[in-house]
Amino acid sequence: MSTTPETLPPLARRSDAAYLDFVEGLREFILGKGADFEERLNSALEQTSASRGRPWGDVEEIREFVHSLPIGRLRDRLARSQQEMKWHAIERSFDEQRTQLTAELAKWDERGPGRLLLDPTFEHPAYTNVHFHLQPGGYYKDELSGFLYHYGTKVFFRGDNDKDELHAKLVGTVPAPTDGKVHRILDLACSIGQSSTAFRRRYPEAEVWGIDHSAPMLRVAHRRAAMQGDAVNFAQRLVEKTGFPDAHFDITFAFILFHELPLRIIHDTVREAARVTRRGGIFAIYDFTGTEGKSPYQRYHRWFDARHNGEPYSQDFCDCRLGDILTANGFEVAAAPLAKRAGGTGYMQHWFATRV
Ligand SMILES: C[S@@+](CC[C@H](N)C(=O)[O-])C[C@H]1O[C@@H](n2cnc3c(N)ncnc32)[C@H](O)[C@@H]1O
Repeated sequence: MSTTPETLPPLARRSDAAYLDFVEGLREFILGKGADFEERLNSALEQTSASRGRPWGDVEEIREFVHSLPIGRLRDRLARSQQEMKWHAIERSFDEQRTQLTAELAKWDERGPGRLLLDPTFEHPAYTNVHFHLQPGGYYKDELSGFLYHYGTKVFFRGDNDKDELHAKLVGTVPAPTDGKVHRILDLACSIGQSSTAFRRRYPEAEVWGIDHSAPMLRVAHRRAAMQGDAVNFAQRLVEKTGFPDAHFDITFAFILFHELPLRIIHDTVREAARVTRRGGIFAIYDFTGTEGKSPYQRYHRWFDARHNGEPYSQDFCDCRLGDILTANGFEVAAAPLAKRAGGTGYMQHWFATRV
């Protein structure tokens, strides 16, 4: 029987793993049916707007109301604290093993089957210098950022993605071009390459490229792919300036990238995807749902994420009508929400766009 090699390095001690198991459970309690904050706060919001005889206005009005309730303040404290607890524990545990983990990364840099192309002269644009979702050092400042991210997202997905199951599922739903030809695939902002390897497994003959601006992410992506024998190429590039030829890819993909880009870079990235995706090719996106038609609680949740969870660009993204931007750049778009929990959060949707 073949087993998948474990690519996530162990924590320094068992008590660290136990602590993070607790944080994962706490996260499930806060976001799921345990505390049921969504249901409770939504019904308080709805009752209050019914008794006032008018719908909620701007998100500031909603925030003021949520913070007037003990349960609202508790929800926010727990949401913030579980993130801080998670990152602190992972950072400390990997920090203790810094020398070994750094050596472990170096061991895989030159190994195949895929290639790792890093650019020593790469300059990170200022807008990427953010501690997204409170990750210490953000995506690129710590050489162990990729390992931190891997453990952090394991907790984030609460058991739904321990073996990349979620990535495989989402990649499996991406429609093929109608002519069935899939020779080259581009995974934009691939992070640690979980979607990239899933694409290579789905299309074993295709040339797959994962790009990201963060070298620490790419080194972990390359190590994981090499350990698992997946021939995927990774390169340090910007999503808005990929450096690939025109019409080069049959499928271009972006999973939870766009909400982490400022609005002008969202426009530049869609334009770039239109340039590198061939006619009839697919640009598939999974990301947060838009604000339109959302419940007051969901609007509040989005505000909280932007303000207190290190997602400074997510509000603009949710307000931006991505479907219209895709259409304006030469795509025909089918969009739909993703079933609750399928994306781990219930706040995701897809845009499957065909290049016309
Ligand atoms: C939330 S992660 C994406 C997750 C990943 N797509 C997956 O399949 O799991 C966001 C990634 O976007 C990368 N990123 C952000 N802005 C970028 C840009 N302008 N160019 C390239 N990568 C970027 C970050 O380094 C980070 O790895």
